[in-house]
Amino acid sequence: MSEMRDLIATFPEQLRWAAGLVTPSIPPAESAIVAGMGGSGIAGDVAAVVAEAASRRVTVHKAYGLPRWVAGDLVVAVSHSGNTEETLSGVQAAAAVGAPWVAVTTGGRLQGKAVAAGAPVVAIPFSPQPRAAFGYLAGAVLRVLEAAGVLPSQAGALEEAADVVASALAGPAHEAAAAIAGRLAGRVTVIYGGTGLGAVAANRWKTQMNENGKAPAYWSSLPELDHNEIVGWTASPQLGRDSIGVVFLHDGADHPRVALRARLTGELIAPVVAIAGEVSSVGSGMLARLLSLTIVGDLVSVELAERAGVDPVPVAIIEDLKKRLTDQPGGSG
Ligand code: PA5
Repeated sequence: MSEMRDLIATFPEQLRWAAGLVTPSIPPAESAIVAGMGGSGIAGDVAAVVAEAASRRVTVHKAYGLPRWVAGDLVVAVSHSGNTEETLSGVQAAAAVGAPWVAVTTGGRLQGKAVAAGAPVVAIPFSPQPRAAFGYLAGAVLRVLEAAGVLPSQAGALEEAADVVASALAGPAHEAAAAIAGRLAGRVTVIYGGTGLGAVAANRWKTQMNENGKAPAYWSSLPELDHNEIVGWTASPQLGRDSIGVVFLHDGADHPRVALRARLTGELIAPVVAIAGEVSSVGSGMLARLLSLTIVGDLVSVELAERAGVDPVPVAIIEDLKKRLTDQPGGSG
């Protein structure tokens, strides 16, 4: 078993760790901004869809600084390393306008800045890669937002998600992943999800294909893709049939017209693009359903890496880029 497979196998215990997390005192807030990038930033995407389902507002910020309207929101800065310059610039922006902020991190400069500013720090266990700490990061962000009063209690949802992911890892997710990976091998992966939950899952699939599989991948969501991307397959059908593999992600709570669109879209594009598979969520809560989709994508990405003979774990080009950025003026974060 590869190291990344071992790490993925820890996701249920990561979620259970988050369910039992005792958070420090967090400033109360009506709404929040989660600032973070890449494998850490997706924790904000998860929080945003969970919040939306609870009629609460959580905005994800994946850029330098913060939105100009930040005042009044709790800023949750999430960075596995604690050294991501965009996220560090976000806490600088929070401090500049006096917005309350919290750090979710394993350490690094983010922890140092939080300690210096008296901001709460939620320390998450270290993983070899941020994307392998998905359960810790997403779970900790959810529990922080609960502690702030932005979200209702999350422990039960995290426990259910842990159970659903553990069941998937006991067999079904591996079988689904092997079948889909077999059809995707040698192709560019395109993932289509529904609105909200499906879009977050599709994004996680895409980034896992990129970082674990070291392969290009793209995602879109319904219904928007029916208004543009669906046309993009039609001029060069040979390209789509030979080089692309589309995966559809379904959720039982998809809008009925979105579910219909997924079926009709698949029928229409099947002659011009290879359909590599479909995955339907399982579980009752939103978090469990979301993670039941992402766990299959995680395994597909590792399977593709193994088929391509690449190690899923390292992301040398990201490290190289970060070093080059640090060496340039303004690279201190
Ligand atoms: O997977 C990765 O290594 C990246 O996507 C990182 O998560 C991203 O660069 C941000 O780094 P960090 O998660 O340490 O803030």
